[in-house]
Amino acid sequence: MKKSYKLAIVGATGLVGRTFLKVLEEKNFPNLEYKLFCSKRSSGTKIKFLGKEYIAEELTENSFDENFDFALFSAGGEIAKKFAPIAVKKNCTVIDNSSAFRMEPNVPLIVPEVNPECIKTHKGIIANPNCSTIQAVVPLKPLDDKYKIKRIVYSTYQAVSGAGKKGLDDLLNKSNEKTLKKFPHPIYNNCLPHIDVFMDDGYTKEEHKMIDETRKILGRQDINITATTIRVPVENCHGESINVEFENDFNLNDVRDILQNAEGVVLCDEPKNNIYPLASNVNGHDEVYVGRIRRDFSNPNTLNMWCVADNIRKGAASNAIQILEKLL
Ligand SMILES: NC(=O)c1ccc[n+]([C@@H]2O[C@H](COP(=O)([O-])OP(=O)(O)OC[C@H]3O[C@@H](n4cnc5c(N)ncnc54)[C@H](OP(=O)(O)O)[C@@H]3O)[C@@H](O)[C@H]2O)c1
Repeated sequence: MKKSYKLAIVGATGLVGRTFLKVLEEKNFPNLEYKLFCSKRSSGTKIKFLGKEYIAEELTENSFDENFDFALFSAGGEIAKKFAPIAVKKNCTVIDNSSAFRMEPNVPLIVPEVNPECIKTHKGIIANPNCSTIQAVVPLKPLDDKYKIKRIVYSTYQAVSGAGKKGLDDLLNKSNEKTLKKFPHPIYNNCLPHIDVFMDDGYTKEEHKMIDETRKILGRQDINITATTIRVPVENCHGESINVEFENDFNLNDVRDILQNAEGVVLCDEPKNNIYPLASNVNGHDEVYVGRIRRDFSNPNTLNMWCVADNIRKGAASNAIQILEKLL
């Protein structure tokens, strides 16, 4: 086994990038050396990490000449499309957080609790799924294994941190139509039924990502799925109402047992004591919290549940670092 590995962090100054650093500090891998990259804008930024001062450098076409073993990318799709192939050519394995490669057939799309066996099929690039999809498939996978999913209806309540630093600023600054940096309308005191761009069919790209990525990760192209994704004025942690119909009937106590024992899931379901997943409790955690579990009486074999996860941690940084851990 190699003594030490070199890891490049691309987008280290962003919301996801900073969380990569936080999670890497928590894990404190003994055999990794790091280099941090950003755009020209913030090149030279000093970042305290693992007790040392690092300086983030501008990402250029020569950045991967230094023989990196791995790179964590969180700098958007365009940067990934341009620089990930350069990194791969230099024998660096890339874990990318953008949507650039997720649906490419030869790129595994990984949630380590769900499809870790697909990691080994990679040809240099591994894609980290969309944040809202990751937190949905973690509790859905063990239920699919037991009852076989037929149809899913997703309704999401997504935090502004999912739109990066500028999105967070729009909420915290209570931006108005004239001062907005990210959203098309004020997000303060508002809910926007609009995440990512609109497609010709009336759905948003975020909704399509949830549909397509769920099928790819679960390896179930036959599942019928629809989604409505909403941006809400919450700083961090996405909430999702999931309505799921199975081929086979279930017993609610068995469903609770399955979720209680599922890897990466915390069951938080005591409605009579006002206990259910809340962004304020889930913030900073890596597990997906699930509650409000109940039968949908309007349709056979159908379940309703509410799940909340930290979209910057499990929805991005922690999931990517779990993948890295498997590669190491
Ligand atoms: N936020 C989430 O919940 C979430 C979840 C899953 C996936 N993602 C994905 O992760 C990526 C980053 O998201 P974020 O929320 O961290 O965004 P962000 O806060 O806006 O950060 C973007 C990062 O990319 C860097 N960057 C921008 N242009 C660059 C360039 N030309 N060369 C090198 N670096 C460049 C920025 O550097 P500067 O500081 O120099 O601008 C910054 O470090 C996106 O692809 C996003 O879709 C985000």
